[in-house]
Amino acid sequence: MIYVNIPTFESTNNSNTNPTLTPNFHQMLRTLQFRVLAACVVLFVVPMAMAGWHLSRNKMLFFSGALFITLTVCVHLIPYLASISTSSSSFSSSSVLVLENRFICISLLHEIVFDVKPIGGIENLGVSSNYGGWNWSNSAPVVACGFENFGVSDALDMLKGSWVVVAGDSQARLVVVSLLSLVLGSEEMDSIRGDLFKRHSDYQIVIDGIGMKLDFRWAPYVMNLTDLMVEFKRNKNFPDVLVMGAGLWHMLHVTNSWDYGVSLRLLRDLVVSLVPASREFDTHGPGPAVGSNSIQSPHLFWLGMPMLINSMLNTEKKRDKMTNALRDAYDKQLYGSKLLHQSGGPFLLLNILSLSWKCGTMCTDDGMHYHGAVYEAAVHIMLNELLIESR
Ligand SMILES: *[C@@H]1O[C@H](CO)[C@@H](O)[C@H](O)[C@H]1NC(C)=O
Ligand SMILES: *[C@@H]1O[C@H](CO)[C@@H](O)[C@H](O)[C@H]1NC(C)=O
Repeated sequence: MIYVNIPTFESTNNSNTNPTLTPNFHQMLRTLQFRVLAACVVLFVVPMAMAGWHLSRNKMLFFSGALFITLTVCVHLIPYLASISTSSSSFSSSSVLVLENRFICISLLHEIVFDVKPIGGIENLGVSSNYGGWNWSNSAPVVACGFENFGVSDALDMLKGSWVVVAGDSQARLVVVSLLSLVLGSEEMDSIRGDLFKRHSDYQIVIDGIGMKLDFRWAPYVMNLTDLMVEFKRNKNFPDVLVMGAGLWHMLHVTNSWDYGVSLRLLRDLVVSLVPASREFDTHGPGPAVGSNSIQSPHLFWLGMPMLINSMLNTEKKRDKMTNALRDAYDKQLYGSKLLHQSGGPFLLLNILSLSWKCGTMCTDDGMHYHGAVYEAAVHIMLNELLIESR
């Protein structure tokens, strides 16, 4: 069975949020208690005692009464403040800790290192011939998260009975290749390769035995992704896992980042209206199977654009239009659209830019499509995220 080792704060010494914040907060409260007591003494006791020297007996009685009441109030304030301090410490314990660890591990999922040979030829796209070529970094916090390197049986277990849809351009197709290579093995993969690589077409496969259905939808523009969401809505049927991403075609044929941003915001508004946005706090039952999750909360992933190496792009038009500056502008629109988790949106980013950058120029022949290790790593990031969410 699959098992994730959630680290404690002691093991992740670079985390700088709650563990330091909480003691500070307590100290603050203790100081506050002390100050209230001191203020009571200074404000009431001292002036009254001084005044008492010069007062008649009646007035003296009146002031001692007032003094008594004041001190009583002050003394009663202190346990109240103390109780705030204890309740805050019990609040900050287990549940927040688990949630915090989950966020830390999800944020570390892209800490991947590559070690690949030059790809040499289109036939190696999407599949790394000798399995591997990538791994998680061996820094202590990443090791503490215990990310899984999924083998066939673990991956099948994970995706049992689920409906997975991957929609987008050629990057999305390469993700499908990696995902299928993981669950099918190389022989079966060779036999379906022809169908899968038919240009600009959809593809569907049902993996018998585990009842998993995988759809690839050719959707080169964000508009096509929006149409797909409308289709899900019309059929009242949402996939369990949805991976989407588009941008390269828009860069090449429309070449207008502002227009791209508008289409992203339209997509976001639609998705948010269909899917509850904050997945982080809903807790599914135990067990790794994704397929058993409710339809209301599909797992949404956004497939980012890769690093573009302008001089390697294979047509004049691509080299002319798909500049680094434009690519940056497109990414700005993506972050500005609030589509992604990090800006409160519904999609978790599969950061192909970061992965392809780490893999480097050696991992591409055309400056745009990368070695299978890149997409395989993305698939593993996705599966590990699903695993963390399912716990
Ligand atoms: C990946 O790294 C882990 C720990 O750093 C190691 O145990 C494992 O063998 C590595 N896997 C591969 C395929 O290199
Ligand atoms: C995608 O959208 C474009 C522009 O709206 C449209 O021309 C094209 O037919 C769509 N393709 C698919 C596969 O829906």
